[in-house]
Amino acid sequence: MDTERASIALITGANRGIGYEIAGGLGRLGMTVVVGTRDLDQGKHAAARLCDDGIDAQAVQLDVTSGDDPAAAAAWIDAEYGRLDVLVNNAGISGARLGQLPGSVDLDSLRAVFATNVFGAVAVTEAILPLLRRSPRARIVNVTSGLGSMTRMTDPQDYFTGLQANLGYAPSKSALNHITVQYAKHLAPEAILVNAADPGPCATDFTKDLPGVTRTAADGARIVVHLATLEENGPTGGYFNETGPVPW
Ligand SMILES: NC(=O)c1ccc[n+]([C@@H]2O[C@H](COP(=O)([O-])OP(=O)(O)OC[C@H]3O[C@@H](n4cnc5c(N)ncnc54)[C@H](OP(=O)(O)O)[C@@H]3O)[C@@H](O)[C@H]2O)c1
Repeated sequence: MDTERASIALITGANRGIGYEIAGGLGRLGMTVVVGTRDLDQGKHAAARLCDDGIDAQAVQLDVTSGDDPAAAAAWIDAEYGRLDVLVNNAGISGARLGQLPGSVDLDSLRAVFATNVFGAVAVTEAILPLLRRSPRARIVNVTSGLGSMTRMTDPQDYFTGLQANLGYAPSKSALNHITVQYAKHLAPEAILVNAADPGPCATDFTKDLPGVTRTAADGARIVVHLATLEENGPTGGYFNETGPVPW
């Protein structure tokens, strides 16, 4: 617990939804949390709510698709804390559904989804890595989705196979899964653990058009908090939801 108390965590897209609950979960373990947000006022509002709950929280400007924000956020964290222990790449968008349907593809729509869900996570990780390397037990968690599982998507018994085809969001999460594996491979010698977390369906703004989603954002945050606080001998390069490993 003393180690957790000293830890600093950055969560992207933490002003609302699952990201906000991840910040709350890590904060309640005693971590200092940095709320990455593309609208600094919203981030400050979220950080103030976390502080009201007794959590040490601050906000930083971080649009993951911005050419400048990742480096500027890293510089701010460096000046404020001198290192980072946990990075959670949570920011994500689903994008316009019609533009992701085979036969109706809008390439700009696909580019926007990949810019946030894939290249945004890579840009933030690259900018933050020097700070993580100063931590005695750095962890990276990429928030993916079960929809990124090619095994589930092609399993005739899985309800995913009955979903409308999608060339944007689902493949973006498959790409994020693979990027997780590549970072894990590269950072294993430095004992930086990198894993992909599938929060499962949660009732957030993200799913507001989907009926029957009863799990909360806090439910989805649990596996992320778990992977962000793994012990030294914990897994790396894995893909997990709250029940265990997810097939790739
Ligand atoms: N909800 C689910 O059922 C579900 C299931 C599986 C996976 N996920 C994944 O979980 C993550 C969080 O989803 P959620 O349900 O919490 O969604 P949400 O309520 O829509 O929140 C998304 C968050 O990402 C932020 N964001 C979007 N684009 C960004 C950018 N360019 N830079 C920085 N922040 C950005 C949003 O900021 P703004 O407030 O500025 O828009 C918001 O804070 C996503 O990666 C999503 O793919 C969700």
